[in-house]
Amino acid sequence: MSASHASRPDESIEARELADAVTPAEREALRALAVDIAVEAGALAAERRRAGVAVADTKSSPVDVVTEVDREVEAFIRKRLADARPGDGFYGEESDATGSSTGFTWVVDPIDGTVNFLYGIPWYAVSIALVAGDPAAGAADYATVVGAVVNPEVGECFSASRGGGAEVDGSPLTCSSAVDLSTSLVGTGFAYVAGRRTEQAEAWAGLAARVRDLRRMGAAALDLCSVASGRLDLYYESGTHPWDHAAGALIAREAGAVVTGGGGRRESRRLVIAGAPAVVEAFEATGTDGYAQVE
Ligand code: IPD
Repeated sequence: MSASHASRPDESIEARELADAVTPAEREALRALAVDIAVEAGALAAERRRAGVAVADTKSSPVDVVTEVDREVEAFIRKRLADARPGDGFYGEESDATGSSTGFTWVVDPIDGTVNFLYGIPWYAVSIALVAGDPAAGAADYATVVGAVVNPEVGECFSASRGGGAEVDGSPLTCSSAVDLSTSLVGTGFAYVAGRRTEQAEAWAGLAARVRDLRRMGAAALDLCSVASGRLDLYYESGTHPWDHAAGALIAREAGAVVTGGGGRRESRRLVIAGAPAVVEAFEATGTDGYAQVE
């Protein structure tokens, strides 16, 4: 299913026009490129995981880790994309951004779910999206054209193209048709900074009695793909970056989910909500927050 453009109110006009000018044939070629590279990168990550992984550095807090494998996989993806599409920009989690001469930029998380990866929990993913516009400038400035999310341990490849639907390993995806928040399975994620995580946990606790059950699975891109495939009725999280959510948001949206930043805004670092349309509406009505500090 393809979402209408009316459900993407905050895309800039320039980004939307650029994204919409990509022909269906070009979009499918770009989706195939993202899929191929994500599958290869996932295989590399899994191979390195089997050999053993150690923390190489920390980022926003002592528990926000990066491994050598995150860096190696990002470098691999970056080179493959630069070889295939030399004018496009690059915006990845683990290395400096490069500008774009085409108006398009690749948004890459080499390993989403790094902590799962470190601990050997088989729930992490390579996430690759191509966006029109500038992903570093904020939600209002880009429009996602294609996305691919690969979990190499489970052996699943999710992908979508703008207006072209979402699939997992060739089978079309449709999100849950749930209408009742009280019987919905709801996923979220937490920040690496302890104070933020505490606020999020308080918001989470407030929701506990209003839903079927709660899940914290540890990889935002896969949470969004779980919404796309009906494994979750709703996911929400504050503080995620475009590399965590750009590909998965397109996949969820193209599977028929509503993806929003709440209050009619586009999804952003402040908040991503994705789910079955009626459940998103019911969730928004609860006023669940815990994200006020993230802009
Ligand atoms: C993290 C994961 C996690 C989410 C965090 C993200 P990373 O990404 O997606 O599920 O809760 O907000 O930062 O650090 O593993 O790439």
